[in-house]
Amino acid sequence: MVKLNENYLKLPGSYLFSTIGKKVAAYSAEYPDEKVIRLGIGDVTQPLVPAIIQALHEAVEEMGHAETFHGYAPDLGYAFLRETIAEKDYQARGCEIGADEIFISDGAKSDCGNIQEIFSADARIAVCDPVYPVYVDSNVMAGRTGEYDEKTGTWSNVIYMPCTAENGFVPQLPEETPDLIYLCVPNNPTGTALTREQLAVWVDYANSVGAVILYDAAYEAYIAQDDVPHSIYEIPGARTCAIEFRSFSKNAGFTGVRLGFTVVPKDLKCGGVMAHGLWARRHGTKFNGAPYIVQKAAMAVYSEEGKAQLKDQVAYYMRNAKVIFDGLKEAGYEVYGGINAPYIWLKVPEGMTSWDFFDYLLEKAHVVGTPGSGFGPSGEGYFRLTAFGNYENTVEAIDRIKNL
Ligand code: MLT
Repeated sequence: MVKLNENYLKLPGSYLFSTIGKKVAAYSAEYPDEKVIRLGIGDVTQPLVPAIIQALHEAVEEMGHAETFHGYAPDLGYAFLRETIAEKDYQARGCEIGADEIFISDGAKSDCGNIQEIFSADARIAVCDPVYPVYVDSNVMAGRTGEYDEKTGTWSNVIYMPCTAENGFVPQLPEETPDLIYLCVPNNPTGTALTREQLAVWVDYANSVGAVILYDAAYEAYIAQDDVPHSIYEIPGARTCAIEFRSFSKNAGFTGVRLGFTVVPKDLKCGGVMAHGLWARRHGTKFNGAPYIVQKAAMAVYSEEGKAQLKDQVAYYMRNAKVIFDGLKEAGYEVYGGINAPYIWLKVPEGMTSWDFFDYLLEKAHVVGTPGSGFGPSGEGYFRLTAFGNYENTVEAIDRIKNL
């Protein structure tokens, strides 16, 4: 009889944010009169900016006429968008990235989850701990992570790089040599970032041991400090060791529209084989191209008008980040992040676990956050709040926490 992929059975029952969603739904069903404020999943709340809405309308109109109708998109993305990204996101910053090294997709989550497919089944992964759960879960599905230890909350074949207050949330080079190194900068969940100098250490290391860095830069638009690079390709040597993931979700509010891209430089070779060719083959086989309408909308992200409107939107969320950061500090919490990222990472009160604090906040303040332990063992004792709520709710949530 056919068997299912048993690796899936090793995973927790549901994805972290689904578990939280279910808990909150159950709470709301029991207490329908409570106004629950959700600062859990990092989902945007502000509407698409006018420049994007206009681009969407125009593209929809084109689809209604035979002369301008578009069927399947090119599987790797329309040239107009790939060229614009190469020029505006990379060449303008001095990064040598060509349009043909950019692969348009339906979002960074899919690419972060799928990229492991082009590497060998026995590739050893290293992850920051805490970490965005997709990196580990997708490798569990592929059977790469070994066995789960309930006691330590770790997988036997994964190299964990603890990021805690003690090391400033900066991952240290691992003792064992990994093949794939996942880095998320600015970081989800801790909201911290790596400077150019700190990132250069990783690029040099990866090149020296023949590892590949899988660099998730989904929160790049939130970088405020000059010494934090916006792309790993700002670091010399990254073309031979790094793949970068970018998203339109957080910089342009596309969480419900869906669009992202991945950069695979042609200089990145493993055993003499270009990763670029394999990713192109995978993309072409399993993906039929992001919608024309959505790729046209993304063009508005790079227009002068769109850029100005999105700068305001990012500033709106970062004002929330400041409200959360300052408010929690005032309330006596130990708080991190929120400077280069829309996430605030706080230490939970002594004697509570992350999930205890989740329940406490939900029951006493009706505020939803994300328990740090959901991101890995070193996340235990921490808690994440997102700045993606609306301003009024964010202020109210923090007032409620302060009044506890
Ligand atoms: C998060 O809350 O960590 C993010 O929203 C997840 C995601 O971007 O997929």
